[in-house]
Amino acid sequence: MPGRTGVDVLGGAMSHGGRSVVVFSPRGGTGTTTLAIALATWLAGLRPGHNSVALLDFHLPFGNLAAMLGLAPAFTLGGADQHWTPADIGRVFTPTSLGCNVVASPNDPLVAESVTVLECASALAFASAHHDLMVVDIGSNLNEATLLALESATALVMVVNGDPQALPAAAAARATLGLLGIPVDDIVLVANRVGSVHQLDSGTIGRALGHRAIYEVPDSPDVALAVKKGRSLMRDWPDHPWSVAVGRIGELCLGNDVSGLPALPRDGRRSWLGRRTRRRGHQPIGPPTVAIGRP
Ligand SMILES: Nc1ncnc2c1ncn2[C@@H]1O[C@H](COP(=O)(O)OP(=O)(O)OP(=O)(O)O)[C@@H](O)[C@H]1O
Ligand SMILES: [Mg+2]
Repeated sequence: MPGRTGVDVLGGAMSHGGRSVVVFSPRGGTGTTTLAIALATWLAGLRPGHNSVALLDFHLPFGNLAAMLGLAPAFTLGGADQHWTPADIGRVFTPTSLGCNVVASPNDPLVAESVTVLECASALAFASAHHDLMVVDIGSNLNEATLLALESATALVMVVNGDPQALPAAAAARATLGLLGIPVDDIVLVANRVGSVHQLDSGTIGRALGHRAIYEVPDSPDVALAVKKGRSLMRDWPDHPWSVAVGRIGELCLGNDVSGLPALPRDGRRSWLGRRTRRRGHQPIGPPTVAIGRP
């Protein structure tokens, strides 16, 4: 990816005009927005109180990032003006309790249709000028706006699940990204919802896609429960296996080697779940990374 340097986020890379992590899935409903929010939360947690991360919703139409965060943003993409100045910071970015600032997509599909590539470019430039890091949820769309986001990405996260029917789309998407000049071997390939029933295992997915490594994110009912309760699993429960797995992906997006990190912990309990989570109540989720080997 252009600009990928492997510099630690707390070091020299945290200057303005920084990195962008683009989260993409070839199929809808795979967990792209959930992961984008969690990554932004994890990245924002590296510099709490610094407003260092912008989270942009480029899933047009029908992006639901703001809704998933329980936000009712006063500003969304689809406005006529794109020549923002520092005086517009408070207007364009919707702050969150997670430490990241959101650029929301419009609810109305007709407004979404009016969003131009120029506006998306302005949003990226404005977010980049005022944050150290950006996380962009592009959903399942490869269009002019999302290709723009991909072009400026320092890390691309592609989310797949173990649905056998989804594999051909994932393979086609990976090949298309290659044709577009994206270095596909650098893609951070994520198998989401590992451990859920009737899913292919990560090794099979990685081999089918010819990718050298695949990073597992476990299936957990706590993910949806947190959204339902308006909470953040990542912020409230950073040592939950799901949060730890997302943190590893965050490290990778920063270019950091995760191979030496300790094994994933089992989860404990958090009172807002409204129940006691038994220490032995979750299946072990296995190694976080499945090395596939070069095809
Ligand atoms: N690891 C996980 N474990 C359990 N549930 C998950 C996990 N990841 C995502 N989900 C759930 O899957 C559902 C879809 O997630 P999400 O909306 O993030 O997918 P998406 O790819 O952004 O979908 P869309 O294409 O509609 O934008 C949500 O209910 C979410 O809570
Ligand atoms: Mg989504």
